[in-house]
Amino acid sequence: MSNPKILVTRTLPAPAEKILNDSLDVDYARDPLGIARDEMLRRVADKDGLVCQLNETINEELLAAAPRLKVVATVSVGFNNIDVAACTRRKILATNTPGVLDDTTADFAIALMLAVARRVVEGDKFLRAGEWTGWNVSHYLGSDVWGKTLGILGFGRIGKEVARRASGFKMRVIYHNRQRADAASEREVNATFVNMDTLLRESDFLSIHAPLTPETKHIISKDALAKMKPTSYLINTARGPVVDEAALNDALENKVIAGAGLDVYEREPEVTPGLIPRHNVVLAPHLGSASVETREKMAVLAATNVAEFFAGRRPRTPLNPEVLAP
Ligand code: DGY
Repeated sequence: MSNPKILVTRTLPAPAEKILNDSLDVDYARDPLGIARDEMLRRVADKDGLVCQLNETINEELLAAAPRLKVVATVSVGFNNIDVAACTRRKILATNTPGVLDDTTADFAIALMLAVARRVVEGDKFLRAGEWTGWNVSHYLGSDVWGKTLGILGFGRIGKEVARRASGFKMRVIYHNRQRADAASEREVNATFVNMDTLLRESDFLSIHAPLTPETKHIISKDALAKMKPTSYLINTARGPVVDEAALNDALENKVIAGAGLDVYEREPEVTPGLIPRHNVVLAPHLGSASVETREKMAVLAATNVAEFFAGRRPRTPLNPEVLAP
């Protein structure tokens, strides 16, 4: 009997490709710029499995184009690119990669916080432009991070890791989450639950770690930004549409808040043009989990899920385990 056929939309780290190649017939789309939608629809047509990434939309259109599809694995923890309900209706298993990127993403949130508050990128540009003439007591003064109040919106695995890191900066940590965490988790990272209003009003740094859902879309709106301190900074390493990007741009223009560190955007790879020239914003191209070690772990987890599925075993991180029920 021939091996199940898989489409993989990008080149993956070697250990992940090995897992797939060992038991599956794999079609790799290796264009570093990504696979075009029409090509993806064409190549997935005869496939039993798909390994994709977060900017590839797995919707009714794609599922209809892939009548043999039984499993879709996204190499990301966020799965807003997948219509999981549509997969479930078709008895297609969907998987993501939770748990392997929490520390790396938390590190990046802290990096953005430090970079924007301490003006690291501005200073770098100034030096490279050859404009530095020597130490100056009033040059590029930023805001301290240590000792400030860190607000965390979304207290899942990544939010908790950010909270854990904040104690090293002697920060007070407050958080808001749809559901309050248990007392042990709060104690473990020294975080206090507050309502959304308090989070907005008291945070010196507000770091977003909530998934994108209909409830969180634009939760950071013009009104929410207006409640923040004029000295505060917004950090987003979660999903762009959680923030109303146009409202954020206006808030920065009007000094409603002091700055922002952004890794994600509403319409990636587009960025609201007004943000580009701003000095008080650090803009990263969705790099939160982008370390060699972590990207390998993510890809290996996605590949393992697919290989396990076709070996008749339960994949580690299913999004719709109900389709596995006999
Ligand atoms: C994810 O996995 O969802 C991140 O956004 C990229 O690592």
